[in-house]
Amino acid sequence: MSRLIVISNRVQPANGEGAGNQGGLAVALSAALRESNGIWFGWSGEEIETFTGQLNFQRHDGVATATVDLGAQDIEEYYNGFANRTLWPLFHYRIDVAEFERGFAGGYDRVNARFAETVHPLIEPDDLIWVHDYHMIPLGAELRARGVRNRIGFFLHIPWPPMRLLAALPNHRQLVQAMLAYDVIGFQTRDWLDSFLDYVRAEMPDVRIEADGSLFVGERAIRVIACPIGIDTAAFRASAREPEAVTAFERMRASANGRDLIVGVDRLDYSKGLQERFLGYERFLSSRPQALGRVFLLQIAPPSREDVQSYREIRSALDGLSGRINGEFADVEWVPIRYVNRGYPRDRLAGIYRAARVGLVTPLRDGMNLVAKEYVAAQDEDDPGVLILSRFAGAAEQMGEALLVNPHSAEEIADAISQALAMTRAERQRRWRALMDGVEERDVLWWQRCFLSVLASGGKATVDA
Ligand code: G6P
Repeated sequence: MSRLIVISNRVQPANGEGAGNQGGLAVALSAALRESNGIWFGWSGEEIETFTGQLNFQRHDGVATATVDLGAQDIEEYYNGFANRTLWPLFHYRIDVAEFERGFAGGYDRVNARFAETVHPLIEPDDLIWVHDYHMIPLGAELRARGVRNRIGFFLHIPWPPMRLLAALPNHRQLVQAMLAYDVIGFQTRDWLDSFLDYVRAEMPDVRIEADGSLFVGERAIRVIACPIGIDTAAFRASAREPEAVTAFERMRASANGRDLIVGVDRLDYSKGLQERFLGYERFLSSRPQALGRVFLLQIAPPSREDVQSYREIRSALDGLSGRINGEFADVEWVPIRYVNRGYPRDRLAGIYRAARVGLVTPLRDGMNLVAKEYVAAQDEDDPGVLILSRFAGAAEQMGEALLVNPHSAEEIADAISQALAMTRAERQRRWRALMDGVEERDVLWWQRCFLSVLASGGKATVDA
């Protein structure tokens, strides 16, 4: 078995105990790293004055990590700049928020070169290298430039934008060209993969696209695949029955006091459609006065990327909107929205999901969305809640039994909430069973194998996504 080297901006190894408070991605990658005696490399999250390239080695429950600190200017231009002010908005179809600064692009390339320089000495000839997400698109090309001949794969966790949007990025060709250094390129959905192929077809005449989706640059083959990421379903489901989760469930039920709970859990990000969600819920309240005092929305939204202006703006917009809706509808015994700007451990969230009649997951764009899958996994089989899911989340490709909505439409959100609250138990069970089968079958280990089997074999994908 080849050793695995995982490279990502954030390095978050999980201990060997399964779900609890750990994300599925961390659990799956940690398991693969532990088995192959591999290394997880990336940014430490720490800032120093200037970059030194000093590696910090640690071991977390059998998972070896190697991290580097970044300089203040690196963080500003690479992480806050190109990754989160340029690529993130553009790849989430928000060209209106995207900022295009040469300094950001320069910092992004510089930091990717630094990562490559730093990780290069750790790489042995048989290692498989797996690079993750939009922070690191040019990393493979930087490694090739240093003579690395290993098999290198790249997985994009966020959407790939349509060709015409990507064309707004200065030097878009250079970015896509860099992707051709990988042996395998993975996307969350068929949709994002098709957008990528559209771009290659239109802009890169030297690249041949075979009917099965392989790309050829001269004799070199690049496999392009869709592998939707899942959650650690068994562990998450088990954690929903652990004492912490049961306590959270009981306390939530008690505090709901017979009212129906609608839950949303999202990083505080403009891509999550939180304003539109609040407006949809407001529409529900104003058009169904009989619901006043009988339901409430619990929106958990931990702040994120606060050094970026657009994130500060969405936060203040949501403060205003939740205050206005609460002011408009609340009475002395009831507030329609409980809006909470902090994160909770996963086992507690599992209990809260389980107590919720409705899971409201309405991003304007999302690579996948794992809250949708966690909400389903936390439900009780005999009396499950209803998932309302945006058509524009990658998860919608697999979760057709949810109530799918256009998240821009307040009416559609309002109607879906009504429909969910009125749904018979039999229909809830039928929809939930179908969703749960998918969440069980395509869990995070399935995803890891989906990608790594192609990377390791160099052959064709054995799974269709
Ligand atoms: C998304 C991205 C991840 C990122 C996470 C949290 O899920 O795909 O790469 O780590 O958001 O964002 P942050 O900027 O805090 O790492």
